Amino acid sequence: KCVKVKVPGTTANCGPGFDVMGIACSIYNELELTLLEEKKLTIEIYGDGAENIPKDNRNMVWRCIEELVKKSGAKYKGAHIKMTNNVPLSRGLGSSATAIVAGLVAANACLDNKYSVQEIFEMATAIEGHPDNVAPALFGGITVSAFLHGNLKHISFLPDFPLKMVVAIPDFYLPTKKARAVLKQQIPLKDAIFNIGHIAMIIGALSQGKVDVLKGAFEDKLHQPYRADLIPGMNDVFKVADENGALGTTISGAGPTLIAYTVENYEAIGKAMVEAFAKHKINAKYLVLDIDS
Ligand code: HSE
Repeated sequence: KCVKVKVPGTTANCGPGFDVMGIACSIYNELELTLLEEKKLTIEIYGDGAENIPKDNRNMVWRCIEELVKKSGAKYKGAHIKMTNNVPLSRGLGSSATAIVAGLVAANACLDNKYSVQEIFEMATAIEGHPDNVAPALFGGITVSAFLHGNLKHISFLPDFPLKMVVAIPDFYLPTKKARAVLKQQIPLKDAIFNIGHIAMIIGALSQGKVDVLKGAFEDKLHQPYRADLIPGMNDVFKVADENGALGTTISGAGPTLIAYTVENYEAIGKAMVEAFAKHKINAKYLVLDIDS
């Protein structure tokens, strides 16, 4: 049988919620999967970055499918995979989490949902290394995830006001590995306290609909200052979004996409962000995204 799944792109961290918070966005990758008993793999990829994605057994979607099928003991050895990608590749909008979640969810559906959604969440997190993109890709909405007493838990919710995400996507790739390599293994206590306060305020404000409290709450001292050099113009892009009425601005995931959270003025904010990137000789485009439910 052929199974079709549609998985949203995501924005992780949301500033201070490093490796913990994520939001599912209204931009999607689609996967059609047919498992085959013979050892034959065909992969068709359309859309963003298609030419840069491997179409053999190194393919991430296939590796996740293969892992799940082997774990289940099912006899399938091959697959026909068709991907249509709208989530920009390697730009900080969760393309790798969408690949992992799409592969696991589709393979699980082919196996009559042998595994629970929680088990898929745990497998996807183990493959990705952190839960902040896979949680919203799997559950939708705004998510917070953490290991509590060693068990992976998540909360997913939607705000009761129309929060929009204006994403400015530069035309260069920034691998997550490179963006994690610049981080510090130790940070000052005052920076940790700053981040705890800010992420707590974001979650409280989003869940209680307190839009005014969000202003200023998206700041971070844990990862963004160290990543600024990898994204030319970052602070100028943040500044113009702010001047145009954004509630807050952050790197999306590990970057290089930058994001403004807002309830108004979307187009002006997007245009200003793209212009600010251009001043630093970076070509970018912007999209106005909603939260995927
Ligand atoms: N939390 C991750 C990071 C998201 O910022 O490195 C990117 O995968």
